[in-house]
Amino acid sequence: MNILITGGAGFIGSNFVYHWLGQEPVGRVVVLDALTYAGNRLSLPPDHPRVTFVRGDIRDHDLVLRLLRDHRIEGVAHFAAESHVDRSILGPETFLDTNALGTLRLLEACRAYLQDTGAPAGFRFHHVSTDEVYGSLNPDDPPFEETTPYAPNSPYAASKAASDHLVRAWHHTYGLATTITNCSNNYGPYHFPEKLIPLILVNILHGRPLPVYGDGQQVRDWLYVDDHCRGIELAIRKGVPGEVYNIGGNNERTNLEIVNTLCQLMADAFAMDPTLRERHPACPAARDLHPGTLITHVADRPGHDRRYAINAAKAKRELGYEPSETLQSGLAKTVEWYLRNQAWWTAVMDGSYREWIGKNYAER
Ligand code: NAD
Ligand code: TYD
Repeated sequence: MNILITGGAGFIGSNFVYHWLGQEPVGRVVVLDALTYAGNRLSLPPDHPRVTFVRGDIRDHDLVLRLLRDHRIEGVAHFAAESHVDRSILGPETFLDTNALGTLRLLEACRAYLQDTGAPAGFRFHHVSTDEVYGSLNPDDPPFEETTPYAPNSPYAASKAASDHLVRAWHHTYGLATTITNCSNNYGPYHFPEKLIPLILVNILHGRPLPVYGDGQQVRDWLYVDDHCRGIELAIRKGVPGEVYNIGGNNERTNLEIVNTLCQLMADAFAMDPTLRERHPACPAARDLHPGTLITHVADRPGHDRRYAINAAKAKRELGYEPSETLQSGLAKTVEWYLRNQAWWTAVMDGSYREWIGKNYAER
């Protein structure tokens, strides 16, 4: 399958590029990415004979149509988005522009392409979405199912809900073969250090405070990124057009539990490898990393959703999807990746990164 991967220089998109190359022995991989602050060329293979990287915008209809035609694309995996809830609170318009209008333009380019004589049969449009479209759960509520009514609470979630509805409508009205996956919070390699887990890891290494919003009792269902990529691949290969699949990690934890586990894993890593101390002299000694020491409770996020949880029974039943990582094994791999790849995270934490961190935490 020749595949177009939008947002392939971002966190999940880049992991999906590696995953797809490992699973699909033939076919072209075209990555279309605008390289916003969240996209990084360093997250992709520097030079791969099957990968074409194009810096461009999903809202550029003519560009997308040309890529579809020139590379005879047979499937689109759509990751490109503005993805950070905190940024959507400070500047919602970009989110509607990219997530809603961008998805519309992409769908329209696919529709135009499929009107070409000789367009590939079996074309698939896969849309990557989030569990945040379902709103917030109370402690005793059952996890989100595909039939849970939409109730987005943040500008980000509202813009993703809009994109999901567009994808559904393009299937229903124009017969485009679409699938959608709604997944829980991902973590793993190439995760930009403004999101909780990589931010905490980088702050531990710098000996900086670990900012926890509000009481830290918010619950997320953590999903190792490669498990997610496998779920997406299964949806593309086996999913039924028009269907939606929830992908989760079976790992509900509070934010405080996550932060404490990361402190413990980092202390363990330093105990195992004495050379880490030389490379990260600002990292506190193990006794000072004991749960709680660096944690700083900061003002809560406005409208902060209390709990997300995914029921992935449909994906298991119909696609054979099951997560393979436990939270402990996935977090241990992630800590190891951040310890080995300081060059990557140092490169992405440029001036605009520091400006954002200053602004976000100053507003709290
Ligand atoms: P990310 O912010 O790391 O990456 C987004 C990528 O999209 C970046 O490379 C960026 O340059 C690119 N992009 C942004 N606007 C673009 C445009 N107009 N044209 C082309 N490229 C553009 O996001 P992520 O965490 O990798 O998320 C990928 C997808 O998965 C998103 O659609 C997101 O909503 C969804 N999702 C993410 C999570 C998560 O935990 N990270 C959870 C559920 C769903
Ligand atoms: P985040 O990684 O931004 O993902 P999302 O908002 O999509 O769930 O945040 C995960 C959780 O961690 C969320 O409840 C907000 C919280 N959080 C903090 O407590 N401190 C932080 O500095 C950040 C970035 C997030």
